[in-house]
Amino acid sequence: MSKHLQHPVFNIISEIAGREKTPVYVIGGFVRDAILERESKDIDIVVVGSGIYLAEAVAARLEKSPKITVFKTFGTAMIKWMGYDIEFVGARKESYRQDSRKPLVEIGTLEDDQSRRDFTINALAYSLNREDYGTLVDPFNGVGDIQDKIIRTPLEPGITFTDDPLRMMRAIRFACQLDFRIEEKTFEAIQQSAERIQIVSMERITEELNKIILSQRPSYGFKLLERAKLLQHIFPELLNMKGVNPQNGQMHKDNFYHTLKVLDNLSEKTDNLWLRWGAILHDIGKPDTKRFSEETGWTFHGHEIVGARMVPDIFRRLKLPLNEKMKYVQNLVLLHLRPIILSKEEITDSAVRRLLFDAGDDIDDLMTMCEADITSKNPETVKKHLRNFKIVRKKLKEIEEKDAIRNFQSPISGDLIIKTFGITPGREVGIIKTAIKDAILDGVIRNDYKQAYELMIKLGKDMGFEPAE
Ligand code: CTP
Repeated sequence: MSKHLQHPVFNIISEIAGREKTPVYVIGGFVRDAILERESKDIDIVVVGSGIYLAEAVAARLEKSPKITVFKTFGTAMIKWMGYDIEFVGARKESYRQDSRKPLVEIGTLEDDQSRRDFTINALAYSLNREDYGTLVDPFNGVGDIQDKIIRTPLEPGITFTDDPLRMMRAIRFACQLDFRIEEKTFEAIQQSAERIQIVSMERITEELNKIILSQRPSYGFKLLERAKLLQHIFPELLNMKGVNPQNGQMHKDNFYHTLKVLDNLSEKTDNLWLRWGAILHDIGKPDTKRFSEETGWTFHGHEIVGARMVPDIFRRLKLPLNEKMKYVQNLVLLHLRPIILSKEEITDSAVRRLLFDAGDDIDDLMTMCEADITSKNPETVKKHLRNFKIVRKKLKEIEEKDAIRNFQSPISGDLIIKTFGITPGREVGIIKTAIKDAILDGVIRNDYKQAYELMIKLGKDMGFEPAE
């Protein structure tokens, strides 16, 4: 018997259901993960009878009287207990989808229930009945598919995807998370029904997309999304980067595949979803800024600015948060050329200070992203750039220790300027403030009050102001 069934809650469920003579099973992701030797805190219980009744009886038996939430219309109930989410549902003949607004209609057998689930690997069940406790019920060879690393639908795939088109995204998400392949007929059905993804809410789509992005090798998921014809519906801006546009024998690199490579490189270094989003979007402005000239070949001037401007619209459409996470991604996109420019040129203190000032606390993440952006085929070039990056990092550290620019607050406030010269708030105050900031960033003066004050007096006098007594 699976060691994952040793949790006491399963015994309690088994005992109560046995008394009521109600067949009961643990099903879905928990069983899949148990076979994959992965820990899961989501337990789905399917009952050939009333899920709500069983849930109430189980909740009454558990210590610390857990919270139970009942959804009468759907015949489901959820218990939150000791970090576990235990969901009870009556076996049904209709399809499973988490946010279905359709009330439960027809009660079914266990096999009906299993056949209406998304994939064979998610249709596995362990019996919790006394007579065959722990026996695996696997009518669609889900275990074989786990062993062979295959995503396949239990029924004819067209039916499974019509029941809930989000499953097309889920197929790719599971393939990517588990490093499985999608069985041919299942994949063809996705290609054929891809357009129907448009009837699914963006929130659900993006939830799957983020899981793809958070997997170990997200490029695999994005390539599947592209081949499945889903990407054009959910994220056309990314697809727009595909292609190499030969012109007079000159090609630029394929920015779609380059972006995916950057994303994979970065994923080896960080699990930060938003930093990974930075990598996905760093070159998103390239298609709109692409120009060809005989002399210079292909250029993408200003793509970082155009790209940063595109970020809010993309976030809005994908229903990603429009808060400081968006600003963070936007800033990464805007600044992504700066470290590499620094590493190519003679590194001046002033350029380092400016980068520290513009990136603020995001400087380390920016550096990590930009290191992942070094994707030349020539290993010598990569080595050279990485070496230069090391120097930039060292310099960043030195300057930050010396000048504390990262969270720069000007030593001179607008208020002080107004009071010192007895002037009214206006353009001049801004000019003086900016000049002081520039002087500090350019290393003309130190980032301290005394030097900044002296400069303020000089600037004020140059503009015809006298310090008030
Ligand atoms: N399910 C389904 N179709 C969906 C969503 C879910 O058939 N569109 C079924 C599957 O049997 C799945 C179970 O409901 O295993 C639970 O769904 P969910 O919690 O979304 O996924 P898990 O499989 O548990 O995986 P994960 O926790 O990684 O999302």
